[in-house]
Amino acid sequence: MRYQSREVDEGRVRLVMESALTARDRVGVQDFVLLENYNSEATFIENLRRRFRENLIYTYIGSVLVSVNPYKELEIYSKQQMERYRGVSFYEISPHIYAISDNTYRAMRTERRDQCILISGESGAGKTEASKKILLYFAVTCPTNNHMVTLGDRLLQSNPVLEAFGNAKTLRNDNSSRFGKYMDIQFDFKGATMGGHILNYLLEKSRVVHQNHGERNFHIFYQLLDGGDDDLLNTLNLERNPHSYRYLVKGSCARVSSISDKNNWRVVRKALDVIGFTAEEVQKLLNIIASVLHLGNTLFGEGEEGETYIITETQLSNAAKLLGVDGSALKEALTHKKLTAKGEEMISPLNFEQAVSARDALAKAVYGRTFNWLVEKINQSLALKEEIYHSSKDASVIGLLDIYGFEVLQHNSFEQFCINYCNEKLQQLFIELTLRSEQEEYETEGIAWETVQYFDNKIICDLIEEKHKGIISILDEECLRPGETCDISFLEKLEDTVGGHPHFITHKLANGKTRRVMSREEFRLLHYAGEVNYNVNGFLDKNNDLLNRNLKEVMCQSENQILSHCFRREEVIDQKRPEMAASQFKNSLMKLMEILMSKEPSYVRCIKPNDAKQPGRFDEVLVRHQVKYLGLMENLRVRRAGFAYRRRFEAFLQRYKPLCPETWPNWNGKLADGVSALVNHLGYKPEEYKLGRSKIFIRFPKTLFATEDALEAKKPEIALTLQKSWRGYRERANYQRIRHAVIVIQSGWRGMKARRRAKRRREAAQLIRRFIKGFICRHEEYCDDNDYFLDHVRCSFLKHLRKNLPRSVLDKSWPTPPALLIEASEHLQMLHMRNMVIKYCRRVQPEWKKQMMQKVVASEIFKDQKGSYPHSVGRLFLDTRLEREQISLKVLQTLGSEKVQYGVAVIKYDRRGFKPRPRQLLLTNSFAVLVDRTKIKQRLDYAALRGVSVSSLCDGMVVLHMPWEDNKQKGDAVLHCSHVIELVTKLAMMASKTNYVNINPGCIRFGVSRTKEGIIDFVRGSELKVAKGKRGHLLVTAPQISAT
Ligand SMILES: Nc1ncnc2c1ncn2[C@@H]1O[C@H](COP(=O)(O)OP(=O)(O)OP(=O)(O)O)[C@@H](O)[C@H]1O
Ligand SMILES: [Mg+2]
Repeated sequence: MRYQSREVDEGRVRLVMESALTARDRVGVQDFVLLENYNSEATFIENLRRRFRENLIYTYIGSVLVSVNPYKELEIYSKQQMERYRGVSFYEISPHIYAISDNTYRAMRTERRDQCILISGESGAGKTEASKKILLYFAVTCPTNNHMVTLGDRLLQSNPVLEAFGNAKTLRNDNSSRFGKYMDIQFDFKGATMGGHILNYLLEKSRVVHQNHGERNFHIFYQLLDGGDDDLLNTLNLERNPHSYRYLVKGSCARVSSISDKNNWRVVRKALDVIGFTAEEVQKLLNIIASVLHLGNTLFGEGEEGETYIITETQLSNAAKLLGVDGSALKEALTHKKLTAKGEEMISPLNFEQAVSARDALAKAVYGRTFNWLVEKINQSLALKEEIYHSSKDASVIGLLDIYGFEVLQHNSFEQFCINYCNEKLQQLFIELTLRSEQEEYETEGIAWETVQYFDNKIICDLIEEKHKGIISILDEECLRPGETCDISFLEKLEDTVGGHPHFITHKLANGKTRRVMSREEFRLLHYAGEVNYNVNGFLDKNNDLLNRNLKEVMCQSENQILSHCFRREEVIDQKRPEMAASQFKNSLMKLMEILMSKEPSYVRCIKPNDAKQPGRFDEVLVRHQVKYLGLMENLRVRRAGFAYRRRFEAFLQRYKPLCPETWPNWNGKLADGVSALVNHLGYKPEEYKLGRSKIFIRFPKTLFATEDALEAKKPEIALTLQKSWRGYRERANYQRIRHAVIVIQSGWRGMKARRRAKRRREAAQLIRRFIKGFICRHEEYCDDNDYFLDHVRCSFLKHLRKNLPRSVLDKSWPTPPALLIEASEHLQMLHMRNMVIKYCRRVQPEWKKQMMQKVVASEIFKDQKGSYPHSVGRLFLDTRLEREQISLKVLQTLGSEKVQYGVAVIKYDRRGFKPRPRQLLLTNSFAVLVDRTKIKQRLDYAALRGVSVSSLCDGMVVLHMPWEDNKQKGDAVLHCSHVIELVTKLAMMASKTNYVNINPGCIRFGVSRTKEGIIDFVRGSELKVAKGKRGHLLVTAPQISAT
């Protein structure tokens, strides 16, 4: 950055940036921008070295992270470290890969723009490690979507799988990526990871069949042999020793002490499970891996007549079995070639070299395509589920590019050409976005600017990729050209076409000094990162990447689903020539560039401190070279002079307008004026920013951070306002909805009520009308006119009757019936009475019944006959008037078995003198006796009883008429008893002689003896008196007693 008042500002910035740092963090400067002598490469490297020595491997150039490979494990990648970097401003804390990750993540969230992190550097500089750290940071710190709890695991576990199949030990790196990888991590609007997608670029397939000295094949082969259990190896017909396999020993270093294949195998195996590979898929995959090893051991012999044959039949049949193809068909296809000439198919035998290369081509194709399948499969596992995808249109993406680094080997071939071309393109992108476009932007925006010179590698990119004139076009042309073509003719063509290019040299074109270090089969490219000699041997073949048609046919029929998926039948049928490998690669790189350009990039520039993979060793020459070709110095210069941040006016205004009352909620004037008003309100100093034509440029990150902080602080207020409006709106809408609903319900209800009322009134009117009419015609016959009225009258009477029925038999009341119900009423009254009587009778107890019967008999005898009868009705008849103990025991003994049923005290009057004598009258079931204390004075059998006489008055006189014929009898017994009604009733009932009771009004005649008759006269008086009267009659004065 070029500061206006540099010293003051630098001090301030440094203060802010380093406030949170520990003493160790402060070694050197953590951002090269703060270097005093920013034009000095030596100072730059010294800063790197000082920090490297303290294990401070990360340093910024503005927002670009420079990372130096420590070649040792550092304690800076823990969860706590991740937390330290989470949500913290980029410059407030020591540089770290996590800071870049967090910054990118936050930029994606706040600015809603797709981001990408480009990691570049030469082979072994630490790109893959950096990309893994970034992925780990996202997987650990980002929230997880409910549906995606395992996604983080899968994202992380995709690494060991892809590394096993796509990485290998090279001279430069024990875990060198032999394919390019671009990974998209998808996030939903809440910032939760939602899915992932991997694009893979050109795998170095030639490694399957050949490795340079000191290098290995892909890790998976060694891992399988070292880690796979015995059973597995048996099923694959493999031996544990990698030296048994020709494809694994080309580099003469099958075993490397720094690599633990056994452990890595376990990791890979687990990762395959986590990603979701089924056991069957894993088995198929390993079959293919094993088949490649068997193919490598399939050897050919040459017959006398030049024919080729297979000498290792077992290896071939193992390979065929594992590939799931027919052994003989495979054998045939490996030793013969199918040609189509003039529409006719011909089979021609292959010579020894051709057969070997057919075998190798098959191994490469099988491995290469399986690798693509693997990526496809991982993508399926990471794929954004369809339904989630549709529900989250606001998904954003962070892309992560980890590609094979620039490499210079002793023998560089087609693969190195592609790899270095790829790095050339990435450098170009970097230049494009950080150096050129930035400077151009200052100019177009009218910002005063002093151009920084830099090396633009576009010239090299053009040399390689230009249409018709570029190396790739020439290579393709040479492959397609009819006639004799070979790698040398390609080289010659290159010399002819691009011979004059400043970045291209061949042995022929070189000066003497260079010639000495170049072979005739080589061409040299002066890459941005250094000179590389490429040997043209194999270029055409590799670019053709051809697999014999009959081999393809055999593979199409494979029973191994992975292979049948990889080798499609259409490919055999389709006669069209597939795109050449280099062109394919070029096109895929073009697409990659488009993808990257569409995103906001962040950069990680990896530097390799030494070639020996040693910790703590800082090879200054090597580092200087990298600093130079990576263009870091130029990058620094542009950063120093430039502005840390720029934004289009509308975007800036849109984001920060809430911070200024003038621009909030909307600015209607010119955008530039709005931005001016905003920055003035925020108190930006003139040296802190510049307004361009369409953008604002902010010089220091801290200015932006302060603004961001202000926005963060303001957000709750904005949220509150939004909340208030939204809640108000929602409540209003809700209220309106409820009100409307209420009105609808109300009107419905009121309508219904009114209709009901009207109906009721109508019906009432009709009723009244009918009633009146019925009343008028009530005397007519029952007809339509009066039926209602009459029914009503009946019904009313019956209802009234129901409530007013007499409740006892004695109640003789009865509602007066209407005329037309008189008869029915009488019936009902009778029925009701009967019913009451029945009920009454059912309720009567046996004693009560007995009482009743006696009362009935008494009624029959005395009712309306004797004056004292009414008085007796209300008084109960007792069972006896003498207790047992009042009766003499002797008398009882005399009676013997006859039980006294009733006893009562009486007064017996002598028949002649009428002298009163107290006596007991005892009734048994068959006779009565008069007892004088202990003596039975007189006995009267009921059968012989002639009659019983009483007066009609209220006296107690009773005469028992004795039989004449019985000589023992002294005459009739004249008795007085206080309970005469009761006594006579019981006696009459016991003797069954109710008809024998005479009630005499004036006198009673009684037999004094058989011949003589006595008379008792009865007169009314005030009180009872029994005395001897005139003419020898007994005169009884009977009192008057009222019935009550
Ligand atoms: N941050 C780091 N901490 C510890 N070791 C590291 C770190 N970065 C890299 N290394 C070491 O360096 C080795 C090479 O790193 P890496 O595989 O990332 O290189 P690369 O740039 O991807 O190379 P290539 O282009 O060949 O794939 C790693 O295997 C590891 O041993
Ligand atoms: Mg790598």
